[in-house]
Amino acid sequence: MNNYELLELAKEASKNAYCIYSNFPVGACVFYSSGNYYKGCNIENSSYGLSLCAERNAISTAISSGEKGQLLKIAIYSPKSKNCFPCGACRQWLQEFEEGQNIEIILENENSECSIYKINDILPYSFKLV
Ligand code: THU
Repeated sequence: MNNYELLELAKEASKNAYCIYSNFPVGACVFYSSGNYYKGCNIENSSYGLSLCAERNAISTAISSGEKGQLLKIAIYSPKSKNCFPCGACRQWLQEFEEGQNIEIILENENSECSIYKINDILPYSFKLV
């Protein structure tokens, strides 16, 4: 799966977003060493704080589907914003599944090309239990 293909899947996922409060759709797609991928969109709630981000939705879907491979890449897309970076909570979720600081975080930049970041770029000094 190349980065543009993964970004395309994140775009598809953003079309399913339930975002009637913010009107800010987000889609994410995670890709694993098994070759499997899982999509997620944001799901909002009238109790705003209960809203679920696209990235955590995609990771939840992977885990609940029994995925045991290594998380290699995540693409994140919003039709409302270029460079749609993950929020702080989603960065910490990505950190949880990081093995060797290698997950590629793929965003669409201003030129509609892929920009790639690593967890350590966007969440330095992250919390770890051990
Ligand atoms: N959102 C995501 O889906 N991912 C993020 O990393 C940041 C924000 C969603 C949550 C909410 O539904 C909307 O974007 C506006 O904050």
